Amino acid sequence: MSDQPLMPSEVRRKVLSQHREIEQMLSELEAGVAQLGAGSVDAGQVKRAAYALRGILELHMTFEEAHMVPAINEADGFGPERVRHLYAEHAEQRQELDRLVDAIQEAGSAVDLASSVTKLANMLRKDIEEEEREYVTEKLLRDSIIPTDTFGG
Ligand SMILES: [Fe+2]
Ligand SMILES: [Fe+2]
Repeated sequence: MSDQPLMPSEVRRKVLSQHREIEQMLSELEAGVAQLGAGSVDAGQVKRAAYALRGILELHMTFEEAHMVPAINEADGFGPERVRHLYAEHAEQRQELDRLVDAIQEAGSAVDLASSVTKLANMLRKDIEEEEREYVTEKLLRDSIIPTDTFGG
């Protein structure tokens, strides 16, 4: 992960693309669970995929905190308030993610596994949707235009 400052439009593009990747992983996880009975997928594979997803989500949230937070903070007068809200949401998401991934690891039956995977996928899709509505917008993450007509009327 690079520490180079990114333009807000670039941050937006990257966050959106990470969200699409996460959604793709969720669909694959759900497809895996749906095939549990068919013998081509076993519970261990689903559990490992859920574990890998948690790692990717941690990287994603760290990316947002490193790059999206500074851009949002500067966007307008509500920046600091939005940043506080985003951190509170991430804290909640980390807790919920740990709880659900643990439930997936400990699932003793295909039904338990499927139910925890469904909860995880629903939670993450909802979080992504809300985040894109509240923060990952063109209005908040746009490259600032430096006024050029300082001496104009
Ligand atoms: Fe986030
Ligand atoms: Fe996100």
